[in-house]
Amino acid sequence: MEEYPGKKNTAVFISGRGSNLKSLIKYSKTRRSLINIVLVISNNPQAKGLEYAKKSKIKTVFINYLNKRSFENHSLKLLKSYRVDLICLAGFMKILSSNFIKKFSKIILNIHPSLLPKYKGLNTHFKAIKNKDKYSGATVHIVDEKLDSGQIILQKKVKILKSDTEKTLEKKVLKIEHKIYPKAINELLTSY
Ligand code: GRF
Repeated sequence: MEEYPGKKNTAVFISGRGSNLKSLIKYSKTRRSLINIVLVISNNPQAKGLEYAKKSKIKTVFINYLNKRSFENHSLKLLKSYRVDLICLAGFMKILSSNFIKKFSKIILNIHPSLLPKYKGLNTHFKAIKNKDKYSGATVHIVDEKLDSGQIILQKKVKILKSDTEKTLEKKVLKIEHKIYPKAINELLTSY
C-alpha cells in the first residue's frame, strides 16, 4: 500500500457490500485526503467490500464474531499494532461496547442512512416512507455509548418523492453517503 505521511492511520469496519468503504478508499488516494486506510476489519468473510480493499492492497482481516468480547479484543490488538488513530464504521452491523470505545480512546465515526436523531437503528428508509416524510438523508456522527446518538459531524438531506420506494430512496441516500463521509472526515480532521 502506498503511504501518505502525516495522515491519520484509519481502520474501516464493514459487514457487507462496502460501497462506503469504496468511496473512502477513493478519497484516501486524493491529495486533499487526511487519512491513510491501513486496515479493514470485517465480521463477515463474504463481505464484498473486502475485495475493494484487497484491490488497493489494504490489509484486510476477517474476525469471527463468536462473541462481542473476543471480537473486540482481537480488533483492539490489531488497531494497536497498526497504530490506528481513527475508526470509520461503514455498514458494520454490530454494536461496539462502551468498554471498546473507552479502550480505543480515539475517534470512531459512523455513517447512518437517516437524518438523525430521526430513525436510529435499522429500516430507516421504510420508516421515512411509511411516515410520509418529505425528506430523508444521511448523517455522519461520532460513535458514543448509545446507538446512533453521538455528536453529528455532517448531515445532508434528499427529497422523498411520492414515487419513491424503499429501494429508490436507499439508492438516493447512498449516493449522498458516498459524498458526505469523506467530507465529514476532512472537516473533522482539519478542525483539530
Ligand atoms: C449504508 O447505508 C450505511 O449508512 C449503513 O449501512 C449501509 C452500508 O452500505 N450504516 P455499504 O456496505 O457501505 O454499501
